[in-house]
Amino acid sequence: MYSNTNGRGAPAPAARVTVPDIRARKWGGPAIAVATAYDFTMARLVDEAGVDVVLVGDSLGMVFQGLPNTLPVTLEETCYHGRAVARAAVRAHVVGDMPFMSYQVSPMQAVESAGKLVKEGAFESVKLEGGEDVVEHVRRIVRAGIPVMGHVGLQPQSVHALGGFKIQGRGSEGAAKVIRDARALEEAGVYAIVLEAVPPDVAEQVTAAVGVPTIGIGAGAACDGQVLVCTDLLGMSRGATPRFAKRYADLGDAIVDAMRRYVTEVQARVFPGPEHAYKANGPAESGPRVTDEPSVVGFRH
Ligand code: KIV
Repeated sequence: MYSNTNGRGAPAPAARVTVPDIRARKWGGPAIAVATAYDFTMARLVDEAGVDVVLVGDSLGMVFQGLPNTLPVTLEETCYHGRAVARAAVRAHVVGDMPFMSYQVSPMQAVESAGKLVKEGAFESVKLEGGEDVVEHVRRIVRAGIPVMGHVGLQPQSVHALGGFKIQGRGSEGAAKVIRDARALEEAGVYAIVLEAVPPDVAEQVTAAVGVPTIGIGAGAACDGQVLVCTDLLGMSRGATPRFAKRYADLGDAIVDAMRRYVTEVQARVFPGPEHAYKANGPAESGPRVTDEPSVVGFRH
């Protein structure tokens, strides 16, 4: 028995966040709040909190599947998570990450994969990593009517080429490369650009250099928005988390504590108590008739 508690009785949601809304935030309004989510339950809470954009990142490989990097994630897996998240997001815009090798082969492959993410993953836009090297891919996807979010600086899909998850944009050449990449993406038609793991002054220069919003992660406060992985910001990740990943809660500890209490109560036969059980059947002659009790057993929707 499961509960999908879809918030019946919750206040009417605000209007849906659209790509033009996100673009317009470059020039005014609050900074753009982006968070990842990979499943219905988390996405609904993230959406209820007022996050503007929910990203089904390929970080799902590490966060959801326990992999050492994002490379094995597939289009099919991303679509599966996308459908769950899209069902939950009432207000937030939902973006799907294009997995490694779903677009690098050619612009044609990129537009086919982006189309699959929209048709089968229920995404409203797609995100891909790369700068000058992917402009033609971006152009083709945008021409097909699919909005694209860029991603420069640290590109985790290039982890092996980079020799690890390392800060990018160091030195004047490194900074110039990130700025060139961002400008090339803007020219190709992206509606926003993720800037990952670059020094804050470089992020500031990129943000000033492009006319679309920059969304920082480990890129300082000058960006037009911020993105964090949901399990990092909620304190659910075990082991080391990156310096930039501020913890807004300690849900990991709260979950372990709740589970420990559950285990203790089950082992001691304290749970379930009478308040968690249905009415006893009672003796046949005096018990309730079947029609006296509701047949619904308490699914919460
Ligand atoms: O995969 C992901 O979650 C991302 C964000 C961290 C930007 O790309």
